Amino acid sequence: MAAVRLAIVGLGRFASAHARVWTQLKDVEVVAICDRNPDAFAAFRPLFPGATCYTDWKEMIDTETLDALDVLTPEHLHVDPVLYALAAGLHIFVEKPLASTPEEAKRLVRAAEAHGRVLMVGHILRFDARYAAAKARIARGDAGTIRSIYAKRNNGKKYFHLYNRISPIFILGIHDIDMMHWLMDDDVCEVTAVRSSSGHETEDMIWSMLKFERGGIGILENNWLLPDGAASFMDVRTEITGDDGSVTIRDPERGMEVIGGTAAEHPSFLTGYEVHGKVGGPLADELAHFVDCVKLGRPSELLKPIDAWKAVRVAWAVRESAVQGRPIRLTSEDGAE
Ligand SMILES: NC(=O)c1ccc[n+]([C@@H]2O[C@H](COP(=O)([O-])OP(=O)(O)OC[C@H]3O[C@@H](n4cnc5c(N)ncnc54)[C@H](O)[C@@H]3O)[C@@H](O)[C@H]2O)c1
Repeated sequence: MAAVRLAIVGLGRFASAHARVWTQLKDVEVVAICDRNPDAFAAFRPLFPGATCYTDWKEMIDTETLDALDVLTPEHLHVDPVLYALAAGLHIFVEKPLASTPEEAKRLVRAAEAHGRVLMVGHILRFDARYAAAKARIARGDAGTIRSIYAKRNNGKKYFHLYNRISPIFILGIHDIDMMHWLMDDDVCEVTAVRSSSGHETEDMIWSMLKFERGGIGILENNWLLPDGAASFMDVRTEITGDDGSVTIRDPERGMEVIGGTAAEHPSFLTGYEVHGKVGGPLADELAHFVDCVKLGRPSELLKPIDAWKAVRVAWAVRESAVQGRPIRLTSEDGAE
């Protein structure tokens, strides 16, 4: 296959990180970009001077000759462009969460199977060297049976105005739900959750406990409450406890501290960092892996669509548990197997 002809839909905050990676992948040509707000084009035109701009993704898919679509619309607006593009024969990279209900997520999984297209979801921790190393060590038994994984993923209060459109479990916690499924190599059978809100309709804090079928326990702490003066926009900690060992991962690791006149900064190297003008890190590796899959015409073995459905199913149950104030049991029937 010649260069993958790619279009991007949703030109918001995270699309700029994707765009920088697309510009450096030589097997990719971004031929079209789309946002319902035409003001969004200005920041992307210089990166893709040959790309045509659209405000309607249907028109873009109908007009352009495309191999793949990168979907970065808000979480609850992934479903329609993904379904339409799969039916048009495109391969899809869609940011997490795959969808905002298990039923919608399952429709997308089935559509990808029916059309024989790659559907890869941005569960970026699978491409983070630390989590991949933890997976390899756990798989060879270094920590014994994993009994519990505690995952804190809290983000800056200043971003909540953007993300108060959906529970933090679907934006922040979803990363760790997928990571727990992956590292435990097991499914969740019950969740219990509580939430707290500072007056907004959507909670800005949700804590949850997951019970896995073989007895493992997952604990998630997610909020949008890091103060503006925090040295980093994120506070992430993962503590994996096994019978015979443990693994701890922290973000930002205090490997670098920058002190200005009035404040200290701890830069994060999670979603991307630049070395000599080139973006590196998990996002670059994740998108490069997607391109490899598209070129081979084969689904990813590292991250299957059904894994992304499982993450949505658990996130949905967490929210239900917090709203209803009771534990929610999951069975294989949830989300219509
Ligand atoms: N993997 C990660 O670490 C990570 C980090 C941030 C965001 N994300 C995910 O990326 C996705 C995008 O998030 P974001 O932070 O960029 O959000 P955002 O709100 O900044 O951007 C969304 C963009 O989509 C556009 N849009 C909305 N409806 C549209 C439509 N119907 N047609 C065309 N454009 C439309 C909006 O105008 C906006 O520009 C979300 O799924 C989010 O959870 C992932």
